[in-house]
Parts: sequence; C-alpha cells; structure tokens
Amino acid sequence: MAKQEYAIAPSILSADFARLGQEVDDVLASGAKIVHFDVMDNHYVPNLTIGPLVCDALRKHGVTADIDVHLMVKPVDRIIPDFAEAGATYITFHPEASEHVDRSLQLIRQSGCKSGLVFNPATPLDILEYELENVDMILLMSVNPGFGGQSFIPSALKKLRQARKLIDDSGLDIRLEIDGGVKVDNIREIAQAGADTFVAGSGIYGFPGENDANRYDSIVGKMMAELEGV
Ligand code: DX5
Ligand code: ZN
Repeated sequence: MAKQEYAIAPSILSADFARLGQEVDDVLASGAKIVHFDVMDNHYVPNLTIGPLVCDALRKHGVTADIDVHLMVKPVDRIIPDFAEAGATYITFHPEASEHVDRSLQLIRQSGCKSGLVFNPATPLDILEYELENVDMILLMSVNPGFGGQSFIPSALKKLRQARKLIDDSGLDIRLEIDGGVKVDNIREIAQAGADTFVAGSGIYGFPGENDANRYDSIVGKMMAELEGV
C-alpha cells in the first residue's frame, strides 16, 4: 500500500467561532484537505468545546471535505452515533476513555465512519498489536490534549517512526496523523518521521494574511511547500 497523500488538517479550535463557516471555507480554499474537529468535555480533558450540532451546521453550510472528529470525551460510545448522524468522516478517541476499545472501534465503523485511536504523549502503541486492522487512522498527540497553542513534544518523532513502521509492515491503508504544536518550521521534520496528516490550529489560524479574500493562502502554502519532496 502506497503512503497516503499528505493532508493538512486545520484544527478549528483556533478559528474565530463567530464566523466558523467562513473560517473553514477559507482554509479549504487555501489547500487544506481535512477539517480537524476537537471535542472536549471538561471531564476527560480540562476544557469544553463543541459537539455534533456544530458538525451538522458545517455540513449544512456546505462543507464537503472530510471532517475528522477527535473525541476527547469520556465515555465515548454514547456520542459516536450522534457524530455519524452529524456528518463526521473520521471519529477517533483515546483508548483511556473507553472501557471497551474494540467495541468502540466497531461501533464507529458500524455507524458508517472511519475509525481511529489517539495516543497521548506517554501512551505506548502496544494496543495496536490487536487493533491495527480495526483503525483507519492513528493519531499521535504531540501535546497533552486539552488546549491549542502548546509546544511540540519531541518524543512524538520517535513514536511517529514506530507507528510508520507498523503501518508499512502491515500493508494496511491507515492515515498517520500528528496533533499539537505543528508549525511551518517543524512540519518537514514531522513528515520525515512518517506523518502524512498534519493537524495545525494556532499554526494556521494564528497567521491570517492581510487580504480578506484568501486569508490562509500564505500560511497553508508555506506548510505545503515544506512538504514538497519529503
Ligand atoms: C489539543 C487538540 C489540538 C489542538 C492543536 O487537545 O487536540 O487539535 O487544536 O492546536 P495547536 O496546533 O495550536 O497545537
Ligand atoms: Zn485534536
């Protein structure tokens, strides 16, 4: 299986929520491929964000790109069908947040979505020994979950190399996504370590251009340029 094409996945956590539809349209027009949608519950993580209603609103606004729902909630199963109904493409969750990881993964696929597991900085990849065939995405956290704007934790590079090897050895069609502290100046090194999908919140929405018509062309363009030839 050939490596997945590179995809930039802006995290709307750092977008201007008062004009969210436009903020999503703008990053997609600039070349970003996937909408990263952070769901926090003030229980599994110490912050509170958005739910299925907002996902549904983006679909009704006309967003057709993949929506990558990153669940930072506990429990996870109750909310999976709601996100499927609301138009999620991927649904990923943290294994620590589910009593029955395999059941949650099955539920995501049965609901018609692509499934994924998320690994915190201190969480090993061991569980993939039994679950690799049941995931469409592996998401490695390069910050501790809960907030945008944190610094990239370098040990994520080592874990990326491990995950890349697992995926390549399996021959399965699995995206390898990195989330946290991704910027123009480190995206190339992250790609070299094996990531193919790059979440960036503050690294994109924190750098709007001055021209209202194409606010994120410059920053997304710089990221894509860094990925050329990797
Ligand atoms: C953190 C979230 C991230 C966050 C990344 O818990 O999962 O998706 O938005 O933000 P940056 O890119 O600013 O580190
Ligand atoms: Zn995220």
